[in-house]
Amino acid sequence: MQDKTIVFATNNQHKLEEIRRIVGGKFRILSLKEIGCEEDIPETADTLEGNALMKARYVKEHYGYDCFADDTGLMVDALDGAPGVYSARYAGPGHDSAANMALLLKNLEGITARSARFVTVIALILNGRELTFEGKVEGEILNEAHGSAGFGYDPVFKPVESTVSFAEMTPDTKNAISHRGRATAKLMDYLLEA
Ligand code: IMP
Repeated sequence: MQDKTIVFATNNQHKLEEIRRIVGGKFRILSLKEIGCEEDIPETADTLEGNALMKARYVKEHYGYDCFADDTGLMVDALDGAPGVYSARYAGPGHDSAANMALLLKNLEGITARSARFVTVIALILNGRELTFEGKVEGEILNEAHGSAGFGYDPVFKPVESTVSFAEMTPDTKNAISHRGRATAKLMDYLLEA
C-alpha cells in the first residue's frame, strides 16, 4: 500500500518514471508540476550538496511535502574542477549543451591529461530528517564529440569502465554505471528500507 507521498523536485518525466518503477508501490512520487510549483527554485549555492538541499528545503517550506532533489556537475581536473557546480551554464545562461561542450573542448585544447568525473548529489527530506546520497563516475574528456544519445556533456565523456562515450551507450548501459544511476540506487535502497 502507498502510505506516504514524496515530491521529486523535477519535471523530468524520464527521471520520474524510473523512480516510480522502483519505489512506486511504497511511495506516491509527485513532480513539481503536480504540486503546482511552476516557479524556478533558486540554486545559488556553490556546491552540489548545497543546491540539492536548497531545492528540497524550498519544496518542504513552501509546499509542506517531504521531498528529494538532485544536482549534478562535471569536474575536470585540468580545469581545477570546472565546470563543476556551474555545468549547466558553463558557456553562459540558457542551458545550451552544444555551447557548453564546445567551450569545454576549447579550454582543453592541447591538454593531454583529461581526467574528469561526473558527480550527482541527491538531498532527501523525510520525516524530519535531511540526508544526502552521492554517486560518482570517473572518466575522461574526449578530444571531440562521439555519439548522439543522452544529453548534456555525454558525447565528450568516456567513463573508465567503457571504450565509448556516454552518448554511444543505450540508456540502460549508461544508467548502470552513471553518477545519477549510482546516487539514485543509494536513495532507493534507503527508501525501500524506510
Ligand atoms: P542537473 O543538475 O541534472 O540539471 O545537471 C547540470 C548539468 O550537468 C546539465 O545541464 C548537464 O549539462 C550536465 N549533466 C547532468 N547530468 C548529465 C549526464 O548524465 N550526462 C551529461 N551531462 C550531464
